[in-house]
Amino acid sequence: MKEFLLPHLICPTCLPKEHRLELSVRRQTGDDIIDGSLRCPGCGRRFAIEDGVAILLPGAENEGHWRYEESETLNRYLWSHYADLHGADGNAAAIAAWAGALGRTGDISLDAGCSVGRIVFQLAAAGGPAVGCDLSLSFVKAARRLARDRRLKYSLPLEGNLRETFEIVLPETLPSDHVEFVVADALRLPFAKGSFGQVSSLNVLDRVSYPLAHLYEMNRVSRERDARFLLASPFSWTSSDIPEERWLGGTATGPYAGRAVDNLRALLEGKGKVLAPPWRIAEAISVQWHMRSHRNHCETFTSDTLLAVR
Ligand SMILES: C[S@@+](CC[C@H](N)C(=O)[O-])C[C@H]1O[C@@H](n2cnc3c(N)ncnc32)[C@H](O)[C@@H]1O
Repeated sequence: MKEFLLPHLICPTCLPKEHRLELSVRRQTGDDIIDGSLRCPGCGRRFAIEDGVAILLPGAENEGHWRYEESETLNRYLWSHYADLHGADGNAAAIAAWAGALGRTGDISLDAGCSVGRIVFQLAAAGGPAVGCDLSLSFVKAARRLARDRRLKYSLPLEGNLRETFEIVLPETLPSDHVEFVVADALRLPFAKGSFGQVSSLNVLDRVSYPLAHLYEMNRVSRERDARFLLASPFSWTSSDIPEERWLGGTATGPYAGRAVDNLRALLEGKGKVLAPPWRIAEAISVQWHMRSHRNHCETFTSDTLLAVR
């Protein structure tokens, strides 16, 4: 874990109280802490830093098997994030649309639910240090390895049992010195209030168990002024992932009846004072992206995307 992150870290278990974490280092290389721990002075809990990865989960409940840990899922996300860098079209247009909405800033930024990290590198390219967090240890490890080595090999099915191997090589336009990836829960972010000038949540809102809590957390860690929030989702609400009463749209009744994109606009603009200070919607676009399973099969998603500023 890079040292630049330390001043922003708080205990996710003690939220809404914010206790800054105290670092003990066992092994360090340059500005990167390889082995050590972070201790909460409030509850006494220790969060491990192992092999460079800080594990900042609020409790034991998320530490078991997580469906995004399967290796083929990792490979599919590597393709989704980086295929455009090894010659395939991949999601070049989607990445350009989202990267284009990011502001140029010297401020620290966060991508929550970052998966294998492409938007974190884009945030760093927009200026300032950038942090990604995800529940998946295998995603975070792959993103860290790519940041360190600036290249990474992976494979996907070509057809049947035949596989294609790809190598991602980060171009000079995507810096990796001031990027970091941690394992953390987007519903209890281990960052202090007002830490970030720019935050993003791309295709995460309909994957977390409590979407409103995720928005609340993104709002808490954003600066009160001079902040940008990029939010995108295909709104694939399913009751097996999220109880229907917690959906932020896609229902006929209840406080979030109707289309989620309309409800999100209203929430961001201050409805019910859930997200304060209010945001202004600066841009609303539709972005298409793809997930490949084999050479001749891609699934296409369309994500409603809002850029909010304040
Ligand atoms: C559909 S993927 C989107 C990944 C990436 N943002 C993108 O657009 O490609 C959802 C991601 O959210 C992560 N995720 C789901 N629930 C989470 C939570 N509670 N906290 C942090 N990450 C979470 C998953 O591990 C996965 O990487």
